[in-house]
Amino acid sequence: MDLMDMLNESADYIRSRAGNDRIDVAIVLGSGLGDMADEIEDAIAIDYHDIPHFPVSTVPGHKGRLVIGRLEGHRVMCMQGRFHYYEGYSMAEVVYPVRVMKVMGIDSLFLTNAAGCVNKGWNPGDLMIIKDHIKLIADSPLRGANPDALGPRFFDMTRAYDKALIETTEKIAAELGINIRKGVYMLFTGPAFETPAEIGFARIAGADAVGMSTVPEAIAASHMGMHTLGISCLTNMAAGILDQPLNHEEVLETGERVKKDFSALVRGVIKAWPVFF
Ligand code: HPA
Repeated sequence: MDLMDMLNESADYIRSRAGNDRIDVAIVLGSGLGDMADEIEDAIAIDYHDIPHFPVSTVPGHKGRLVIGRLEGHRVMCMQGRFHYYEGYSMAEVVYPVRVMKVMGIDSLFLTNAAGCVNKGWNPGDLMIIKDHIKLIADSPLRGANPDALGPRFFDMTRAYDKALIETTEKIAAELGINIRKGVYMLFTGPAFETPAEIGFARIAGADAVGMSTVPEAIAASHMGMHTLGISCLTNMAAGILDQPLNHEEVLETGERVKKDFSALVRGVIKAWPVFF
């Protein structure tokens, strides 16, 4: 089946459940950050496995549903759980939901994730605005035939993370008294956490954080001309920085610990979300 036909079927199904009202922002919630979706008002939840052509999430801590409703005066669609490359999905499958968003007419994307902190001057629990990313792994969601209806073959990545959204987030964080960081996120495929040597390499390369998500979605969003904001919750110091092993429980625990700040920041940013169109 043609990709555009599949995307339209997915979009039609979501609209049949949630209505046709314009959605202002789509939010993707990372590991341990999914509780935020419970704050959405007048919410309709749609399990991924009910949506035609949608992949289904397999990670503990990821629920696997869309929550559509109102947050801070805006209509939002929230992905509670996302798809990761390490689960076995192709990059194109990983970004499928982002493409559905675009087909639904959504032009703003708010990506969040849990990430390892590479910057030695920062701390677990810090929140970081993604100002840019590094993807050294060869695969790309746009590898193969270009879906021309979505965007051009070759496309710009200098504005992958929207400047106005970054500035808005810095302003809101300052108003809320949240000490926000701004840095470069580097994609690793996982599911193994990185080695200490890989983290040393990431630091030399210019990375402040490492993680296993977000980059494919940001690339697909850029391809389609969407306005993207990325925020990482730095859940742990990356491998080899502290003399201790890494584990997924620490990632979830830190997410739980910073829940209040994270939620306040997301709400503040959604409230102040610039009108682009
Ligand atoms: N590495 C990669 N992904 C992560 C990490 C990490 O240290 N922490 C949370 N997600």
